[in-house]
Amino acid sequence: MCGIIGYTGTDRGAIDVLMNGLSSLEYRGYDSAGVAVADSSLAVFKREGEVSALETAIPDDDIGGTAGIGHTRWSTHGPPSDTNAHPHTDCTGDVAVVHNGIIENYRTLQSELEADGHTFNSDTDTEVVPHLIETALAEGATREEAFRQAVQRLEGSYAVAAVFEGDETVYAARNESPLVLGLGDDGYYLASDVPAFIEYTDRVVYLEDGQFARVNPSGIVVTDEQGAIVETAVETISWDPEDAGKSGYDHYMLKEIHEQPTAIRKCLRERVTEMEGSITVSELADLERQGPVQFVACGTSYHAALYGARLLREQGVPAQCYLASEYDVESLPVGNETLVVGVTQSGETADTMRALRAANRVGASTLALTNVVGSSAARECDHVMYIRAGPEIGVAATKTFASQQVALAMLSQVLSPDRTPETDFIKRLRTLPDRIQRILDESNAQAIAETYVDADAYFFIGRGYNTPVALEGALKMKEITYKHAEGFAAGELKHGPLALVTEATPVFAIVTGESNAARTIGNIKEVEARGAPVVAVTDSPSDVDQYADHILEVPSSGPRCTPILSNIQLQLVSYWVANQLGRSIDKPRNLAKSVTVE
Ligand code: F6R
Repeated sequence: MCGIIGYTGTDRGAIDVLMNGLSSLEYRGYDSAGVAVADSSLAVFKREGEVSALETAIPDDDIGGTAGIGHTRWSTHGPPSDTNAHPHTDCTGDVAVVHNGIIENYRTLQSELEADGHTFNSDTDTEVVPHLIETALAEGATREEAFRQAVQRLEGSYAVAAVFEGDETVYAARNESPLVLGLGDDGYYLASDVPAFIEYTDRVVYLEDGQFARVNPSGIVVTDEQGAIVETAVETISWDPEDAGKSGYDHYMLKEIHEQPTAIRKCLRERVTEMEGSITVSELADLERQGPVQFVACGTSYHAALYGARLLREQGVPAQCYLASEYDVESLPVGNETLVVGVTQSGETADTMRALRAANRVGASTLALTNVVGSSAARECDHVMYIRAGPEIGVAATKTFASQQVALAMLSQVLSPDRTPETDFIKRLRTLPDRIQRILDESNAQAIAETYVDADAYFFIGRGYNTPVALEGALKMKEITYKHAEGFAAGELKHGPLALVTEATPVFAIVTGESNAARTIGNIKEVEARGAPVVAVTDSPSDVDQYADHILEVPSSGPRCTPILSNIQLQLVSYWVANQLGRSIDKPRNLAKSVTVE
């Protein structure tokens, strides 16, 4: 979802830093892009489409100026177009603004500004900001004051940055949308996310809600809502910029699927002692669960949370899972004893943040399970557990999902009332990386994808722990192939969806673990009777191959760990179908890495 980059420095031309930054933010998902570079005048370039389209709009001759801002837009107000792309300017063209988030009162502000004679060019909510700045300047405010006064009129969520002609200062502010400052040797950066400038510096300051930043080549000054200077803590990010390259893979998604053994090793490191059969998550040392656990999450993270809730229930902990957008503290039993766990790889998802904030307000304890150090979820929750997957550039979540599952498996042990070491489970967790590697080395998913690339639709079924696998298999298939795919609890198939099953709709059945296998095989027979080809993801091929047309084999790892393996096979199938179809795999349409609107 929308991304911001800003730069002000001494040696480097701003345009190169901004364009590199925009390329690094592409993974967030966007539909248009633009930059503004401040020199003696303000040069603004913007285009609908990819960053490469913006590149062609920028003249070859040197764009002077060592300060500027850039933006990748994911449309909310007005369709993708050159005009609606950011930056937006005022009537004079002296100030340019980029913004992420939603300005809820923009209609009122726009009417007021239009009545005062301002002309608007775009459909966006953002455009009110440069015009508000223009008004404040006309009333005698300094640039910094004008920026502050404009921002203080906004209601809603925003990360916003502005530059002025003839000024090497970048002004920025945030409220409920991420913004991080980077401190380099030859300049200062600001961005929605660290990968935008990680190639230049790993020293960062996270802006908090309500804070403003003034960034120029001599340094950064952060102030609070009242204008008082705030002491900031500089953190060092441990992500290696090398991690963010494709390392020879055609797509980040494929690279990240292959990184899952490493990601899981990192997630387990120093948390699991196999000899003693114990799990210790140092970040959670002071977490004491007293009552029930509620998970809130969206999309892929919701599927991980379904898995986590089931694990906890099995440990005797009352646990429920809610779509964050549906979580309503007014109608649910949430109180001081409830632990609300937000599962969110980005740590910025607006729906999840809203749910966590609401839970906090009614006195629940909150825990963020996230990949992003310093993200809003990590900073605002009472507790945080990092999944340590490393940067995930492909917009579709893959390795973060596996890492979430493993982190949840550990969390289920930490929160269990019975802390008797489960040596067998811990051993299985430890063997996951090697087993995933085996799947990656031996998978026949590509051939199956080739066989069914022309299917009308894809269905995924599973039971128990395999239900979230089926849901996630379908989500991954639809988001990167743009083809119809649905996941069901296998038993539900006969209650309606069976009407959709034909010879042209392959059914992927996840049949692992002994207790559920027989019943899922019953469902396989139902779809076969309607002529549907069946692909079984299974750890016992000899039992299933008499019913299935194809087998995707996974090593048997017990009911709680095998689902993590099954999902890898389904990720590969989706990847190869999308690849056959020539889809934009790393940046699928209409999907954003960090969904910062509700
Ligand atoms: C799917 C995907 C989305 C996210 C969802 C939540 O591949 O990436 O469904 O899982 O937007 O995002 P996070 O985990 O950042 O809260």
